[in-house]
Amino acid sequence: MNGKKILLIVGGGIAAYKACELVRLIRKAGGSVRCVLTVGGAHFVTPMTLAALSESQVFTNLFDLKDEAEMGHIQLSREADLVVVAPATADLMAKMAAGMADDLATTLLLATDKKVLAAPAMNVRMWLHEATQRNVARLRDDGVTVMTPDEGEMACGEYGPGRLPEPEAILDAIERMLGAPDPLADQPDFAPDAPLAGRHILVTAGPTHEPIDPVRVLANRSSGKQGFAIAAALGALGARVTLVAGPVSLPTPGGVTRIDVETAREMAEAVDRALPADAAVMVAAVADWRVEPAASKIKKGPEGPPRLSLVENPDILAELAVSSRRPRLLIGFAAETDNVVGNAQAKRERKGADWIVANDVSGDVMGGTNNRVHLITAQGIENWDPAPKADIARKLAERIAAALEG
Ligand code: C5P
Repeated sequence: MNGKKILLIVGGGIAAYKACELVRLIRKAGGSVRCVLTVGGAHFVTPMTLAALSESQVFTNLFDLKDEAEMGHIQLSREADLVVVAPATADLMAKMAAGMADDLATTLLLATDKKVLAAPAMNVRMWLHEATQRNVARLRDDGVTVMTPDEGEMACGEYGPGRLPEPEAILDAIERMLGAPDPLADQPDFAPDAPLAGRHILVTAGPTHEPIDPVRVLANRSSGKQGFAIAAALGALGARVTLVAGPVSLPTPGGVTRIDVETAREMAEAVDRALPADAAVMVAAVADWRVEPAASKIKKGPEGPPRLSLVENPDILAELAVSSRRPRLLIGFAAETDNVVGNAQAKRERKGADWIVANDVSGDVMGGTNNRVHLITAQGIENWDPAPKADIARKLAERIAAALEG
């Protein structure tokens, strides 16, 4: 962990004892830890234990920071590279979601400008309670990474989800977060007055892979570059972006929530779960057909090549267009090699999209960095100059912002 500094907030639950192991693991991995114990946390582990393991002073409440000027609560969270809450109790997460600051832990969490990882631990019913689920969703919306608790036998004797993830899993999540780019740093336009602030926009990107057997797939040449660039451009204008991505090897744009899927049917489900959205930009090259996959690898044999029997996939865009949760602005992409504009115009009508971006893929567009598009709306056709995919993305994001404003 290369000397990275973790501020560990230990909430009040029986799983607090595992925080001791987490401190040990972080230090073994080369990081340093400062611990803050909530009042509840101090009932389960002593400040002395954590101080010994972290070889650092442990802070227990807002008023014992001896010298506010030297080590104020802002300073405590500023000097950290990452804030980790483990265990994150139902009560602590409720306070975080509400923006409360009535003790040192919650004050630090409200004052921090660093990424926050929460590892929940609580009784199964408390975890499944609507209030907790609402708070978790709120925290995720606010940019907090909330881990999914483990399932198993609980200290109270019940069984189900709610156990603190193992310290090794929390360490993995810490290392991933420290390695990932800071979403807020990547989004200078994340201000409340950004053109798309407060909007949720759904983007699909990449190909889908339809399994033929456990090793083979039906695929296409979509690289996902245009869709990822659009997600990044919408995020830069302040939108909350959910990017449902088929199998591609592209980094996730900063601040974008990415959901990886493989097949068209998985993509349809992920799109449905991500609703509601103010706008949807369906850039993915979704496979039109799938096959009923064989359970084991199809062997080459004397009977000759297998016959693949194709079944139609759901049309995600067309289904969204008639859904009761249809986004206000629905945009499709149409990759065409001939009669680009004519086919795309027909597609706009047939699929019920507001706009179609007609994509001339007759050249090296698929997988390349440049694109050639025409924007087809109810008002007519705009021929855009050939340009890098990032420029097309920015222009489209600006048009989306203007349309949603209107
Ligand atoms: O493949 P096609 O040219 O019909 O794609 C046009 C638009 O429809 C694209 O926006 C694509 O993302 C969407 N589509 C979809 N589900 C499908 C096929 C296409 O959402 N099964």
